[in-house]
Amino acid sequence: MADHSVSDLVAELTLAEKVALTHGANDPDGRATGYVQGIERLDVPPLRMVDGPLGVRVPGESATAFPAPLALAATFDTALAEEYGAALGRETKGMDADVLLAPGANLIRVPQNGRNFEYYSEDPVLSAAFAARVTAGIQSEDTIATPKHYVANNQETHRASVSADVSERALRELYLPSFRAAVEAGAGSVMTAYNSVNGTRMSDHERLLRDVLKDEWDFEGYVVSDWFGTEDAAAAANAGLDVEMPGVTMAEMAGALDEEGEQEFEIPEELARGMPDHESCERFAEVLADRVREGALDEARLDDMVTRVLTQMDRIGRLDGTRGDGAVDTPEHRALAERVATRGSVLLKNDDDVLPLADDAAVALVGPNVDETVLGGGGSSETTPVTETTPEDGITARADGDVTVEYGLPPVEAVSMLEMMVGGEQGDDQGESPNEPTREADVEGAVAAATDADVAVVCVRDTATEAIDRDSLALPDRQNELVVAVAEAAERTVVVCNTSGPVELPWRDAVDAIVQNWYPGQAHGDALAAVLYGDADPGGRLPVTFAPEEAYPTSGDERRYPGVDGVVHYDEGVFVGYRHFDDAADVPTYPFGHGHSYAEFAYTDAALEGDTVRVTVENTAERAGREVVQVYVRPPERDDRPVRELAGFASVPVPAGASETVAIDLDDHAFETYDEDDGWVTPPGEYTLEVGRSSRDTRLELSTSR
Ligand code: BGC
Repeated sequence: MADHSVSDLVAELTLAEKVALTHGANDPDGRATGYVQGIERLDVPPLRMVDGPLGVRVPGESATAFPAPLALAATFDTALAEEYGAALGRETKGMDADVLLAPGANLIRVPQNGRNFEYYSEDPVLSAAFAARVTAGIQSEDTIATPKHYVANNQETHRASVSADVSERALRELYLPSFRAAVEAGAGSVMTAYNSVNGTRMSDHERLLRDVLKDEWDFEGYVVSDWFGTEDAAAAANAGLDVEMPGVTMAEMAGALDEEGEQEFEIPEELARGMPDHESCERFAEVLADRVREGALDEARLDDMVTRVLTQMDRIGRLDGTRGDGAVDTPEHRALAERVATRGSVLLKNDDDVLPLADDAAVALVGPNVDETVLGGGGSSETTPVTETTPEDGITARADGDVTVEYGLPPVEAVSMLEMMVGGEQGDDQGESPNEPTREADVEGAVAAATDADVAVVCVRDTATEAIDRDSLALPDRQNELVVAVAEAAERTVVVCNTSGPVELPWRDAVDAIVQNWYPGQAHGDALAAVLYGDADPGGRLPVTFAPEEAYPTSGDERRYPGVDGVVHYDEGVFVGYRHFDDAADVPTYPFGHGHSYAEFAYTDAALEGDTVRVTVENTAERAGREVVQVYVRPPERDDRPVRELAGFASVPVPAGASETVAIDLDDHAFETYDEDDGWVTPPGEYTLEVGRSSRDTRLELSTSR
C-alpha cells in the first residue's frame, strides 16, 4: 500500500476509530504484551507487540533464548549484531507478532543497574553501533523495532518517578547517540522512558520527542509509551507521544502473566521502588476523543499519530497482507545463539596459558549453579527456550578427561520481576535448580574435588532483574569464599563469571584465568565448553569497565545515584565509564576494551586516510585468533574533555601467521564535542589517534590536525 493509501485510510476513520489506533487493548488471544486493536470495517488488522531484547517472550510459549545484549556488544562485531537482530525479527514474525520491544539503547551509567544486561555499553559509539545494527537486522525481517527507553533510564531504583538532571552536553555526547543511530537505521518505533529528564516526564517531553526525535532526526515512526508510563493524555499526545500502552489495567496485565490466569496481583515492597504508578496513568481510550472535541488536542495531531502507526504497519506488509513468514527455534538460530555466546566471552586473565584446557584434563567443575542455564535476568526480557545446555552438560559432553561436579553451595536464586508481580517467590523458572534446590553448602567437597583434579573450573553468578538495581557489585552469597577455598587447593583455577555487568573480583590474583561469560542464553554450556577447550577463540572485549564499586563516578554520592528528593544529578557530566577512570586516580580492575585472545597480535603500518584508519594486524601465534582493533581519539587540549574517546573499532579473524589490513571508519563525531551554545564543534589543534587492543593498551599512534 503506497503512502497515499494510508492517508486515504486515515480520511475514512471516525474519531473513535482513530483513537482506537493509538492505545493498547486486551489481546483476545492473550499472547501479545502490547496489542493495538484493528479496524475490521476497513480491513486494518491488529498490531501485536512482544518483548524483548534477548528473544521473543510470549507467555507459555518457547523461542530462542539469545545471549544478553551486553554479551553481544562484547563481540565488538557489528555484522554479528545485524545477524542477531535479523534472527530476533524472524522469530517475532514466527510468533505472529509485528513489533519487537527492542533493542535496549540506554547507556550503562550506573554499574548496579538491574537492566544493564539488556543494554550494550558505557560507551556511546559502541552502544550506538549495536543499537543501529540490531535495529536494522530486526527491521530487515519486516518487523518493527522499538529502541527503548528514550532517554536517561539509567537505573531501576525509582525509575518511574525520578528525574534525571542532565546537561545538554552529556545528553548529546552520551545518552542520545544510540537512539539517534537506531532512528537513522530506520527504527519504526521508539519507546519513551518512565523517568523525567530535567523535570519533564519523558512521555510528555516536547523538546526531546517533538523537537529532537521527530524534527531534528526526522523520525517518521511512532513513539510508544513504556507500560503505564504516561500521566496526562493530552499533554503526552501534544508533546509527541503517539501510542499509549498497555491501555489495560495492571490486574489484567498480571493476569496474562500468570499461567493460572489469576487476576490478583500485589507489588511487593522491594519491587515497588521500580514500578510505575499504574493508577495515575490517564488512558488515551478514555479521554482522547473528548480532548479533541474540547480542542485540547488538535485532530490534525491525532491524524499524525494514526498515520505514523499505519505507515509502519504498511511498511511491514500488514495492511496488504504481504508480510512473509517468520521462523522460531531454527537450527540457524540455535547456532547463532551459541556463536554469540562464544564470541562474546571475554578472557580477562589467562596466566601461563592455563586456557585452553587440554582435552584430557581432569576437571573439577564447581559452582552452586553449574546445573543451570543462565538465560538472562528477570523482567520483561525473560525468554523460555526449547532447548538449553548447562555448564555441567556442555563441559561433560566436551571433555575427554574426568569431570567431577561439586556445587559447593546451595544454588544462588535468580530474581524475577514477573514472578514477584504475581506473588511468586524471588526464584524464577529460568533459574530453578532441577536437582536439589535445598542442597546444603559443601565447600569442603568442592575443595576435595579441586585438590584431585588437574584444573578447577569455578562458575559464579550474580542475579539481576528489571525494577530492582543490584544492591552491590559483590557476588551474592558465599561465592567469593568458595572461589578462594578452591583456588587455594587446586593446582590451577579458572573462574567463569555469569553476570549482568561488572562485578568485583577480589580473588583475581589467586586464580589463573577468568572468563567473563555474561548471561549467555540457551547455549550456555556448549558455548562455554567451546571457549574453555579452545574450539573457538574468545573474541570478546569489555564493553564496560570492571572496577571496585566505590571507584565508579556514581558511587558514594546519593545525588548522583540513586538521587535525592526525586532527582538524580548527572554531576559527572560526560565522565562516565572509562571517561571517568582515565581521568581519575583509581585504576580499573580491567579497563574498557580489555580481553585476551588465545593468539597474539602485532600491529604495524597504521595510517589515516580521510576519516578511515588502516592498520595491519599480524597473528604471530600458531593458532587462528580474532582481534578487536580499537581506535581512540585524544583531543589536543584537555580542558573539560575526556582523555580519550572510542572513535571506531573492528573485530577481525586472523589465521595463524597471517596478516590482515583492517579499515576502521571513524565516528562522525570522533573529533567533536558538544558546546551548549554552538552545538557540535571541533576545537582546532593536533589530535592523537591511539590504535590498539584496549583503552589502556595502545599499540600505535597517529596524529592529525583539525
Ligand atoms: C519495560 C519495557 C517493556 C514493557 C513491556 C516495561 O516494564 O520497562 O522494557 O518493553 O514493560 O513488557
